[in-house]
Amino acid sequence: MARIYVTCRIFEDEIERLRSAEHDVRMRGEEGPIARDELLRRVTDVDALICLLSDVIDAQVMAAGHNLRIIANLGVGYDNIDVHAARERGIVVTNTPGALTETTADLTFALLLAAARRIVEADEYVRAERFLGWELLQEHLGSDVFGKTLGIVGMGRIGTAVARRGHLGFGMNILYHNRHRSLDAEQELNARSVSFDELLTESDFICVHTPLTQETHHLFNRKAFRMMKDNAIIVNVARGPVVDEDALVWALETGEIAGAGIDVYENEPKVHPGLLKLKERVVLAPHLGSATGKTRRRMAKIAVDNVLSVLSGREPLDPVI
Ligand code: GLV
Repeated sequence: MARIYVTCRIFEDEIERLRSAEHDVRMRGEEGPIARDELLRRVTDVDALICLLSDVIDAQVMAAGHNLRIIANLGVGYDNIDVHAARERGIVVTNTPGALTETTADLTFALLLAAARRIVEADEYVRAERFLGWELLQEHLGSDVFGKTLGIVGMGRIGTAVARRGHLGFGMNILYHNRHRSLDAEQELNARSVSFDELLTESDFICVHTPLTQETHHLFNRKAFRMMKDNAIIVNVARGPVVDEDALVWALETGEIAGAGIDVYENEPKVHPGLLKLKERVVLAPHLGSATGKTRRRMAKIAVDNVLSVLSGREPLDPVI
């Protein structure tokens, strides 16, 4: 029997799977992020930790959890975990790749379309009973999406799924910037690998799908926004700190760019007050990328499968190191 701690509420049937393998499972039943001191206390005697991408799992947590054998992150990104510290201690780290690709690509496109066609503003307008009749020069004139240029920063699974929607569904011309070329995307979607600067200057829409690393922290800063077209719309569903939020607010306020669809924030769950004030072509979501019932279930199942595998002495199914 091993001890497992789950830092958040997850589906009861997944907890049951752990219990029926005779493990002692403790699940934090409360809403909201776990406090640091509680996390440090809870890990002291556990063999496995199932955690959220908002839980900071650093060397101190690993030192407190000296029995830890696996950290199973509920998400594809794992910048919340110090993977070097885990490797040094021989702790397996797993994530949930694949499970959320299409779901997150759908949300990316939802934000892109909503910002371009000003759907949130239009919804508020109708609800305020201000729609008094069709006019040629109607309020809420938006930007076309069909046939425009879509720039993807980070052409991994999600970036490629977004490019596919753009090219096959909306006839978009695809540019991408990635560490490695994606020959599949080039063949299937006629995508073109370009420098970051070229992507900034040529794209009408820019979607951010790169992981957060030291190199990508504040990749979108004032200089980057200055290079973008003034009709450009940026969509970030990756990690907040890839975008310098002060610079984003400045770019939107000064008209350096036209709009934004934002799902992730620099100091999540805090949202920059400047962003909250901006409504025209700015759409905000509360980190909903993977948020469908089916996908969240799949993510919980993957985390539990990984824990069961490692605790029974087998290899992890989705190791990140
Ligand atoms: C969501 O942000 C994830 O990394 O899964």
